[in-house]
Amino acid sequence: ALSSFQVSEEFGFLLPDPLTELPAPYGPWMDLAHELPQLITSHQLRSRVHQMPQLSTQHLQGREELHLAHLVLSFITMGYVWQEGEEADAAPVLPRNLAVPYWEVSQALGLPPILSHADFVLANWRRKDPNGPLEIENLDTIITLPGGESLRGFILVTLLVEKAAVPGIKQLVLHAAAHLTVLGLPSTSDLTHLFLLDYVDPEVFYSVIRIFLSGWKDNPAMPHGLIYEGVSPEPLAFSGGSAAQSTVLHAFDELLGICHPAFLHRMRDYMPRPHRAFVQELRGAVSLRQHVLSSGDARLRAAFNRCVGALTDFRSLHIAIVTKYIAIAAARARARRAQPSARAGPSAGKPPAALEGKGTGGSHIFSFLKSIRDTTREGMISA
Ligand code: ALA
Repeated sequence: ALSSFQVSEEFGFLLPDPLTELPAPYGPWMDLAHELPQLITSHQLRSRVHQMPQLSTQHLQGREELHLAHLVLSFITMGYVWQEGEEADAAPVLPRNLAVPYWEVSQALGLPPILSHADFVLANWRRKDPNGPLEIENLDTIITLPGGESLRGFILVTLLVEKAAVPGIKQLVLHAAAHLTVLGLPSTSDLTHLFLLDYVDPEVFYSVIRIFLSGWKDNPAMPHGLIYEGVSPEPLAFSGGSAAQSTVLHAFDELLGICHPAFLHRMRDYMPRPHRAFVQELRGAVSLRQHVLSSGDARLRAAFNRCVGALTDFRSLHIAIVTKYIAIAAARARARRAQPSARAGPSAGKPPAALEGKGTGGSHIFSFLKSIRDTTREGMISA
């Protein structure tokens, strides 16, 4: 049942042991992709992209190759668009030799032609020791962008959250199928330790990393979208990468009957097609909430409410993390601007102004996060 939605018993929504190399004809893409941080910081990526041959996508076979191709072209595209920061010549045209194959690979997977959670995290991991465990010390990313160890930490911690959700997702499917009477979702304490802030420096996250995740929809820095040359004469608008595109919380919320605002619903279009279908299936298949309500069973109600409570705690924790990585980091960046003598850390770039109050996906950060936390809490069933 899970496998028909490309959900793995072992890895959940992560792509199991992703490919790390494309077939030989795609060498020109891989060469650029492996050098991205240097090419971007030395402002050479755009000219290198212009010299790239336009490759046909017809030699890509199967889901693994397509996902790696999408990952590679997504990272190159984000670097191409944001190489010069958010100002002036944000590239409103993606050249045909990149845009056309990117569009074709995106169509094949049902993914949008922009970096999504599926690229950034789900398909972007490998084990250093192939027989070793899925732990941060034994993991690495396949493709990277500027941001060094902090970017690596951001991707891999997010990956471990996906992994931590696997037992909960399996339970969820069992319950959905059988309307069992005892519920167990992972408690936030299981997840909290993964959020340990050891791996990501807030200043690097805020000033260097975020812009490369941001998109061309709901972003004042690119108000009209991006022209994909050879694909469409009109500019197209797509939201930037966001963990709101992770299927995990969508699945839990559907099970518990927690309603989502329009932005979160839209993020489902940024999931791989089978995962989108999985959420849709849950939506149609279960009304656990209705079952708990009509049973009148107090123990069942308490178990249900514990799950809702765990999700509420998770969302509160998220707000605390965003405060540290965005609100406080933004205030520090402002203070540095006001007082140029104040010393910035080693890698402080110029943070994108358009993203001060917005998430990389385009939501208004705090009002959005607080509203979903509150909606989640309202999912409790009162006695
Ligand atoms: N969505 C995260 C942000 O807004 C990455 O920075």
